[in-house]
Amino acid sequence: MNKRVRAHVNPLSITKEFHFEGFGNDKPIFVDVGAYKGEFMWELREKFPGYNFILFEIRIPIANKLREKFKDCENVVVFGGDAGLNFQNILQPCLNQGAKIETIFVNFPDPWFKEKHKKRRFITTKFLNQTANWLPAETKFVFQTDQEFMFNETLEYLEETPYQNITKFNKPPFGIRTDWEKAKVELGLDIYRMDFTRD
Ligand SMILES: C[S@@+](CC[C@H](N)C(=O)[O-])C[C@H]1O[C@@H](n2cnc3c(N)ncnc32)[C@H](O)[C@@H]1O
Repeated sequence: MNKRVRAHVNPLSITKEFHFEGFGNDKPIFVDVGAYKGEFMWELREKFPGYNFILFEIRIPIANKLREKFKDCENVVVFGGDAGLNFQNILQPCLNQGAKIETIFVNFPDPWFKEKHKKRRFITTKFLNQTANWLPAETKFVFQTDQEFMFNETLEYLEETPYQNITKFNKPPFGIRTDWEKAKVELGLDIYRMDFTRD
């Protein structure tokens, strides 16, 4: 194939399922869905050395770079695959070991603009209702985006779930801007943020 022509592969067609033994300890855990270059988790790790970190990244070449970046960090694991498909597989063993999943960061997820593609979004009503069956109520989701319409649609999705403790906020969590946010802020775009839990 001509090198300039790239076949378009939908990464969400990757159906590989992962299994994880857990970290073997009960340290609290931060999770990043769509970790990209991993800078957000890198800085978080520096601030919270007593924590474990789980990174999901669906694009395999990016996930490989993340693995290289964190190769000397025993409190970090990187999964190269679909976070939605693997969410319970990966997190349940950690819960079974007594670890608290403290926060799940969904930072600047792909908006999937088209109506028929919306089901590919990570946060959907269906996903949250399923997750509420096994993920403890204490776990907080943080959602950040530069897409106002997506922020509002996500609020609508939440209405039909048990996740009703919603707080909107303005500043980046722990003062850390993600790679995506840095680029968007440079363009002068607004950022929309919320966190949510269930009772
Ligand atoms: C718009 S970028 C934002 C990256 C990063 N969170 C940040 O704020 O800088 C979205 C990232 O999520 C990844 N991604 C999209 N869907 C995913 C999924 N279902 N599971 C894991 N990663 C996903 C993409 O490959 C991409 O790296």
